[in-house]
Amino acid sequence: MSSHGPGHSPRLTEIYNHYVTHTTVTFHVTPFTAEQRREWFGLHTLIGPHRLLVGTMDGAVVGYASSSFRTMPAYDTTVETSIYLAPEWTGHGFGGTLYEALAKEDVRLLVAGITVPNPGSVKLHKRLGFRHVGCFHSVGRKAGSFLDVDWYERPLSSDSCISGRNCQ
Ligand SMILES: CC(C)(COP(=O)(O)OP(=O)(O)OC[C@H]1O[C@@H](n2cnc3c(N)ncnc32)[C@H](O)[C@@H]1OP(=O)(O)O)[C@@H](O)C(=O)NCCC(=O)NCCS
Repeated sequence: MSSHGPGHSPRLTEIYNHYVTHTTVTFHVTPFTAEQRREWFGLHTLIGPHRLLVGTMDGAVVGYASSSFRTMPAYDTTVETSIYLAPEWTGHGFGGTLYEALAKEDVRLLVAGITVPNPGSVKLHKRLGFRHVGCFHSVGRKAGSFLDVDWYERPLSSDSCISGRNCQ
């Protein structure tokens, strides 16, 4: 596993484009060139909470996990996590390894949105301690269908839920 470098960009773009084109797990609808993704790659830094981690196996890139969130400073301790493995590398447990590395950053809350249905992603998130907090119904439209997005959160600090509402 390593932080993203410029040499990774074409392969990471190829992996993401597979899901853009063939699935509803992301709401982008048009594939990108690596150049078009440059700005997004640049949002992630080598240190700090907004990271882009690349998973490799025997030198081959298997996928990536990223964390970022709104740029307003009060959100600095929260990140939205995202993960995409190459289709041939799903189901081997790499997702958990990559995600756990993101959780080591100095943040209090991880949040994640999962398009319904995505049973593999739900299993991964629940296994890693995310809990379901709500659903945006028909919030997206892709491939001719309206889509729900389930939202999950994972507090990294035991006192993260200040209000006590909706916390288990
Ligand atoms: C979702 C994803 C990150 C999970 O990572 P992974 O390394 O494949 O996860 P794991 O191998 O640990 O599998 C997680 C669990 O989901 C199950 N699973 C995997 N794919 C599944 C599928 N299509 N349907 C049902 N269950 C599935 C696994 O059997 C495993 O179950 P277990 O915990 O009972 O053993 C990965 O499959 C992926 O990149 N998928 C495509 C992109 C995507 O959906 N990203 C998330 C967007 S929210």
